[in-house]
Amino acid sequence: MTETPETSTCTALVTGANKGIGYAIAAGLGAEGFRVGVGARDEARREEAVASLRDSGVDAFGVPLDVTDDTSVRDALALVEKVAGGLDVLVNNAGITGTVPQEPTQVDLDVIRTVVETNVLGVMRVTNAALPLLRRSAHPRIVNVSSGVGSLTRQAASADDGSAGPVAAAYSPSKTFLNAVMLQYVRELVGTGILINAACPGYVATDLNGFRGTRTVEQGAATPIRLALLPDDGPTGGFYEDAGVVPW
Ligand SMILES: NC(=O)c1ccc[n+]([C@@H]2O[C@H](COP(=O)([O-])OP(=O)(O)OC[C@H]3O[C@@H](n4cnc5c(N)ncnc54)[C@H](OP(=O)(O)O)[C@@H]3O)[C@@H](O)[C@H]2O)c1
Repeated sequence: MTETPETSTCTALVTGANKGIGYAIAAGLGAEGFRVGVGARDEARREEAVASLRDSGVDAFGVPLDVTDDTSVRDALALVEKVAGGLDVLVNNAGITGTVPQEPTQVDLDVIRTVVETNVLGVMRVTNAALPLLRRSAHPRIVNVSSGVGSLTRQAASADDGSAGPVAAAYSPSKTFLNAVMLQYVRELVGTGILINAACPGYVATDLNGFRGTRTVEQGAATPIRLALLPDDGPTGGFYEDAGVVPW
């Protein structure tokens, strides 16, 4: 029989959980019964989020975490182990768009380096630090919050429904890179039981886009939460949005 995680005994860590989609993912997993580590780099914003989650009944604890900093990430996972004794779900949500202009003929190459450092290398840094704990979990899951603008299929089609986003040589390719790296993790970790998937939250009103998005953070959190709650025979190595599979 396929086992479904008993969430009341499970711990999740969400990066960039002080606001936006990450906060909504933390709230949603907390409502499912998870103990939730609120990964955030700024102390005041982190503690405010933890307090607000606790007020709504979530078993939340703060985890100081800057995904671009080796020491911060190592200390963060040590704290999770100390506080919760283990980790079952890692949601790599923290991300940045980088400054404009991002047209490839105009972008400052340092902007690309900065975006890749957070959106790709940051995910790898946190994932690698979390893996020793995840390997001990009975139902380990990794969810990468990617974006449909990282879909090469949509970029090549210059999707005129807006799903390709603006021309962006830093942000969009960083999500393509993230998806490509995820598949390498999936290949390396085959047979471990760790399910690793990517989620596109859709166009969500957050600081990231000056609140121009058309979806709520709760709507954006739905697919990441679904992937965090997959049963043991659920998919791995997929890329999903609310409507289904996102083309690579
Ligand atoms: N909003 C959308 O329409 C949309 C669409 C597709 C994908 N996404 C993805 O969804 C994820 C969440 O974005 P959002 O829209 O919720 O944006 P947001 O409100 O700007 O939140 C981003 C979060 O990431 C954190 N973060 C950034 N750099 C970090 C670092 N070095 N270390 C730790 N945390 C860091 C931020 O912390 P601070 O508060 O300290 O800056 C914040 O908590 C991102 O990966 C984004 O690419 C968003």
